[in-house]
Amino acid sequence: RPTPVNVTVTGAAGQIGYALLFRVASGQLLGPDTPVRLRLLEIPQGVKAAEGTAMELDDCAFPLLAGIDIVDDPRAGFEGANVALLVGARPRTAGMERGDLLSANGGIFKPQGEAINAGAADDIRVLVVGNPANTNALIAASHAPDVPSSRFTAMTRLDHNRALSQLAKKTGAAVTDIEQLTIWGNHSATQYPDIFHASIGGRPAAEVVNDQAWLENDFIPTVAKRGAAIIEARGASSAASAANAAIDHVHDWVNGTTPGGWTSAAIVSDGSYGVPEGLISSFPVTSTGGEWEIVQGLEIDEFSRGRIDASVAELVEERDAVKGLGLI
Ligand code: NAI
Repeated sequence: RPTPVNVTVTGAAGQIGYALLFRVASGQLLGPDTPVRLRLLEIPQGVKAAEGTAMELDDCAFPLLAGIDIVDDPRAGFEGANVALLVGARPRTAGMERGDLLSANGGIFKPQGEAINAGAADDIRVLVVGNPANTNALIAASHAPDVPSSRFTAMTRLDHNRALSQLAKKTGAAVTDIEQLTIWGNHSATQYPDIFHASIGGRPAAEVVNDQAWLENDFIPTVAKRGAAIIEARGASSAASAANAAIDHVHDWVNGTTPGGWTSAAIVSDGSYGVPEGLISSFPVTSTGGEWEIVQGLEIDEFSRGRIDASVAELVEERDAVKGLGLI
């Protein structure tokens, strides 16, 4: 039997945690042959609820679940971790300024970055889900100087999946017929879902859609504002779909993307497509099971350029703000 992979989940007692842990333990994160040992990292107030979730995990008798530890100290949380899903974050509450939000999250992601640096396994892979995800990932990475920054990623897979689904609905295609769709930029309302390199059943997606007004006035805002629409409808933010996207992201990173296809993930920029080096921005990416790689050589037209630049400008602002606060 292979050695279990250590998977740390922060915010384990939250609503995404509840939707995520059972899927990790069932083998959907890493594959059906890989046993997992779960480490749940919560704040002290969350520990009791995490214990309740752990009881339920026990009660599933998952064959691949090799053990569960619950901790409230980041050092203990990331010791020996191979995969870290950073879900717990400080949400924006009424009256909170952006600076307050960034500071509060700096107080979470700085010590977590330090703890990952100090104790995680050499092959650590980090996915930040907690918002503002790209900038939280940047903060964590900047406090883990011994870990390659390529191992710190932020989640735009939910946006990618939302875009796939909207495009399938519009064109009557199956989601599996759609390839090479891209989310660029920040996981925020400025993100740019790009169909100009995508194909549907082998035909250029923009040609199949043939409706620029829909693209600009419906598709892009629907994808970008889907989170708010879910809150409005459900009375709570997306949880199961966010957990699903986290599973997809790590699964494809570890097991590889479909040959010939790609997905979207926020990873550290090497300067590709004019995105300043070092920013954690969403790109079209592939994996063969090692590192994420940015798909190169795509032609970016003026419409797309403007959208990408606007989202990247927001990331630069966020980076400068956390720099100003001494968080990176
Ligand atoms: P939630 O409020 O239900 O759960 C958050 C949990 O994190 C709580 O149990 C809390 O005790 C815990 N927590 C807070 N600080 C912590 C720390 N320092 N260490 C460990 N645990 C800590 O929130 P929910 O709905 O599970 O969402 C979590 C985050 O995911 C939010 O920031 C949300 O905005 C974000 N999100 C991101 C998405 C994306 O596409 N990137 C999509 C949906 C949500």
